[in-house]
Amino acid sequence: MSEDIKKTISELHIYEKKLLKELEANPEATPEEIAKNTGMDIKSVMSAAGSLASKDIIEMHKDVEEIYSLTDDGKEYAEKGLPERRILNALANKDRIHMKDLSTETGVDKKETNIAIGWLRRKNWANIDKGMVTITDFGKDFASKMDVDEETLDYLKANADGVRLFTDDLLNGVKKLAGRKNILNVKKETSHSFKILPKGEAILEEGFIIKEQATQLTHQHLKDGQWKDLEYRPYDINAEAPVIFAGKKHPLRVIIDEIRDIFLDMGFVEDNGEYVESAFWNFDSLFQPQDHAAREMQDTFYLKNPLTCDLPDMDLVKLTAETHETGADTGSIGWQYDWSEDIARQSVLRTHTTGISTKHLFEHEPPIKMFSVGRVFRRETFDYKHLPEFHQVEGLVCGEGISYQNLLGVLKEFYKKLGFEVRFRPAYFPYTYLSTESEIYLEEKESWIELGGAGMFRPEVLKPLGIDQPALAFGMGIERLAMIRYDVEDIRMLYKSDINWLREVPLDKGVRL
Ligand code: DAH
Repeated sequence: MSEDIKKTISELHIYEKKLLKELEANPEATPEEIAKNTGMDIKSVMSAAGSLASKDIIEMHKDVEEIYSLTDDGKEYAEKGLPERRILNALANKDRIHMKDLSTETGVDKKETNIAIGWLRRKNWANIDKGMVTITDFGKDFASKMDVDEETLDYLKANADGVRLFTDDLLNGVKKLAGRKNILNVKKETSHSFKILPKGEAILEEGFIIKEQATQLTHQHLKDGQWKDLEYRPYDINAEAPVIFAGKKHPLRVIIDEIRDIFLDMGFVEDNGEYVESAFWNFDSLFQPQDHAAREMQDTFYLKNPLTCDLPDMDLVKLTAETHETGADTGSIGWQYDWSEDIARQSVLRTHTTGISTKHLFEHEPPIKMFSVGRVFRRETFDYKHLPEFHQVEGLVCGEGISYQNLLGVLKEFYKKLGFEVRFRPAYFPYTYLSTESEIYLEEKESWIELGGAGMFRPEVLKPLGIDQPALAFGMGIERLAMIRYDVEDIRMLYKSDINWLREVPLDKGVRL
C-alpha cells in the first residue's frame, strides 16, 4: 500500500499537490476559493481536480442550482396583480359582470381577459354561464386572501436578485406560475465541491513537498546545468494515450509485395504482361480449344475497343492451329476441329496470368524462371467469395531436366515462405500434364483449402512456342490468401476502403510501412 502511495505521490503534478493541501486545510473550499488561495487559475484547479478524481484521490461533486427571478411580464403582474385577481376584485364588488364588459369594468387588457377567464375557472373563483361571469363562494373567500402563486410572485418581487430555495408553499406557487407563459426566468448555475477520499488521506498522511517540477529534460537544462537541481516528474507509462493510426500499406499490397520478395529471393525474374490480350495468348497458346467453356461470353470480358488484337508471328499461329486441329508433331491428335484465326484475334481482358507464361516462353530462351503478379478479370457476380476483378500470381520454370518433382519442390518452398503447409491433389487443366491443385492447411479451421493450380506444360503448349525443354507452371489467386491471412470472411472487404478495418487490421507478416 505504502509503496503504491509513494508511487502515486511521485506522479502527482504540482497543481494536484497544491489542490490536495488546500482541501486538507479547507475541506469546504469551492474551486474559486482554491484558485484564490493557491494562486492557480480556475482552469488549472478544475483539471487538477479531474485528474485527482480519476485516480480516486478525491471525489468531485457537481451541483446544479436553479435560480428563479421574474421576467418583465412577471414584474408587471407582481405590480398590478394577476389578471384573474383584478377581475376577482371587481367581482367582489359587483358579483357578476358580462363578458363583453369585462375589460372596461376591470381594466384588464382585452388580450388578457381570455387567460384570466381560464384561471378564474381553474381556481374556481367564478362561473361563466351565458356570457355572464359570476363569482363563486370560493372566490368570495379569496377576495381577501392571497393564492400561493400570488405569494410567490410577491416573494420574487421582493428578492429581485433571484431565489434559489423556496419553502414548500412558495414552491407550489412556483409550480403554478411555471404553468403560465413568460413569467419566470430560470437560470442554472453549476458549482463544484470536492471531498478527499481515503487514498487522498493516505497521501496526505505520507506527506509530500510542493516543489516546482520539470516534465521534460531539455537541451537548455543540460547546457546550463539546471538538470542537477531540477526535480523531474516521473512519467506514468501506463497512462492511456490517444491511439495513433499511422499510414500503412493496403493489406493486399502487403501480400503482393511479400510474394514478389519471395519470388525474387528464389531467383525468379518478373514479367507483367498486359490487361488487354488476344484470345490467342490468353487461350489458344494454352491449348484451350476454341469452344472451351471458359471462353464463353458469360465467363470472359470481350472488348469492343480494341475489337481485335494482332496475332504474333505467323509461324507460331500456324503451328498452334495445326496443334489444335490435329496435334501436329506433339504426339497427340489435337482437338479435331477447324481452328479459327478470327476467334484467336478477339481481344479479351486477361482471365488469368498463365498467358503471360506462354508469351514469355515464346520471347525468351530457357533456362527461364519467371513470375508475374497482377489483375485478372472474369465475368463473376459480386458476392462474398467472388469479384469480377482480382489478382493472380503465376510462376514458370523452364529448363533441362525440369520435372514434376521440381514443381512440387518449388511449390512447397514457395508456400513455406508464405507460412503455409501445402499438400497436392490431382487436377486437370487443358495446358498441363501432370496437373495438380495445391491445398494449404488452416490451423484455425482444421481443414485444407484449395489455393491454386499447377502442372507441367504439355508438349501441345511448348512445341509451337519452339520450346523443347520441360516447363513447370503454377498460378493462384491472391485475394483468397489475403482473406486467410487477415481473417476476412467477405472478399469485398479488401476493396471497400473501410477505414476502421484498414486501421485495425494487423499486418503482422511482411509489415513495411
Ligand atoms: N490459370 C489457372 C487458373 O486461373 C491456374 C493455373 C493452373 C496456372 C495450372 C498454371 C497452371 O500455371 O499450370 O485457375
